[in-house]
Amino acid sequence: MSTAFEHPTYNYKVVRQFAIMTVVWGIVGMALGVIIASQLVWPELNLGLPWTSFGRLRPLHTNAVIFAFGGSALFATSYYVVQRTCQVRLFSDKLAAFTFWGWQAVILSAVVTLPLGYTSTKEYAELEWPIDILLAVVWISYAIVFLGTIKLRKTSHIYVANWFFAAFIITVAVLHIVNSASLPVTATFSVSIYAGAIDAMVQWWYGHNAVGFFLTAGFLGMMYYFVPKQAERPVYSYRLSIVHFWALIMVYMWAGPHHLHYTALPDWTQSLGMVLSIILLAPSWGGMINGMMTLSGAWHKLRTDPTLRFLVVALSFYGMSTFEGPMMAVKTVNALSHYTDWTIGHVHAGALGWVAMITIGSMYHLIPRLFGRTEMYSVGMIATHFWLATVGTVLYIASMWVNGILQGLMWRAVNPDGTLMYTFVEAVQASGPGYIVRLIGGLCWVTGMLIMAANVFMTIRRGEGARQPLPQTA
Ligand code: HEM
Ligand code: HEM
Repeated sequence: MSTAFEHPTYNYKVVRQFAIMTVVWGIVGMALGVIIASQLVWPELNLGLPWTSFGRLRPLHTNAVIFAFGGSALFATSYYVVQRTCQVRLFSDKLAAFTFWGWQAVILSAVVTLPLGYTSTKEYAELEWPIDILLAVVWISYAIVFLGTIKLRKTSHIYVANWFFAAFIITVAVLHIVNSASLPVTATFSVSIYAGAIDAMVQWWYGHNAVGFFLTAGFLGMMYYFVPKQAERPVYSYRLSIVHFWALIMVYMWAGPHHLHYTALPDWTQSLGMVLSIILLAPSWGGMINGMMTLSGAWHKLRTDPTLRFLVVALSFYGMSTFEGPMMAVKTVNALSHYTDWTIGHVHAGALGWVAMITIGSMYHLIPRLFGRTEMYSVGMIATHFWLATVGTVLYIASMWVNGILQGLMWRAVNPDGTLMYTFVEAVQASGPGYIVRLIGGLCWVTGMLIMAANVFMTIRRGEGARQPLPQTA
């Protein structure tokens, strides 16, 4: 599969490997999402076994979609973009291959240890210390390959997509190493070196910046290459891209406390987190507007190009979720939304609407080019995927808004004598219909991903038939 498509200059092998794994992990991670969504409708699906219980499969879902699916997509696109925009081959083929196999090893370790119940209990950083060390080594190798390639570049400037990728890579290294610092007790158990409120603060400094750098900055890097490419238009404003880059990375760092409103965290830190979250709207929308405006003069292409539709709808959901987030960070709003399904809806507006959509749009641009074709096997199948993904996302987030507000209002409703109007179980029962609608949304998504897999398979097969690597320019 690989030799037939070798590019004369660039290392596309590692890009192909990560691109294929993006589709594979996308299906696995989202199927796990569907399973846990079903468990919330029919708790019997826990099967009475510890390994298949909601509590163990939920972190497996989040690790699979964020790190396996999202991570593979970020590796694939960053390696592709950095080579083409710097006009040099990757800094080291061997180290790049190590990042591929190392990353897959981290994911497989998660697949084994999380269902067995080994966890550090830190959200989005659940993996135990030996896997954390492997992850750190892989990540530092990634930084060397990426930054080393930039150093070797033949172009005078560094294209803006690479700024975002570099910020994402450097920051995630710092976040992971600081937050995972722990004292090992056994091979499968460790204790965080932080305690009490400080542990919580470090965890959500990590957690929020995982959103800001893993789920946002990295994918903005993707956006800055694939939107202009697919629209065949230059980036709307280079100046705006630099201004919102610096604003985004400086403000995100301080917004973490909005995850800890009304906790033991000092009150002033919560208020600071709230204010900086509101400010965060501006740099977020800077990126969204820059992406959207890149389509100036190319809007008509949306009629015929479902790949471009994926990219543009991703930007709309990015704008939507970064409006919703600052609103939820306001303490009085958070008093209602926290602990409810509203948060889950917000998460998936970002995760499905933004992260998954921009990834899929980018993959539909990238995959044919990696396998010696100009187009995917079937544009019709991309269009079907697009509608399934869009309808699925809307069903998911709309049902969670209804559930979230319903739960928040039911929990705070009191009788004239001050007693609670509803029991907790009544709020759970009222959430049932919403969980079914969310499940239907999830099924739409998984169906779309299976269609994508078939389309990718056929594209590769046809490419192999042609065996003609395309001459390419940067
Ligand atoms: C078929 C698509 C998906 C379905 C059906 C699904 C379903 C779910 C469910 C049922 C939960 C648990 C909610 C709860 O505890 O009440 C969850 C949590 C989560 N999912 Fe998904 N998911 C999907 C795709 C994704 C994707 C693509 C991402 C990321 C790129 C993602 C990221 C997350 C995160 C971060 C959480 C934890 C949220 C929190 O703790 O607030 N999901 N998902
Ligand atoms: C300006 C941008 C954003 C702000 C200010 C923001 C703010 C917030 C707030 C206030 C919460 C609820 C915290 C709580 O009550 O526990 C939250 C949760 C969350 N947001 Fe955002 N958000 C933003 C953008 C995004 C984006 C684009 C994504 C995904 C791609 C995302 C992913 C998440 C996740 C995963 C959680 C759940 C964390 C957890 O409790 O497990 N956010 N966000």
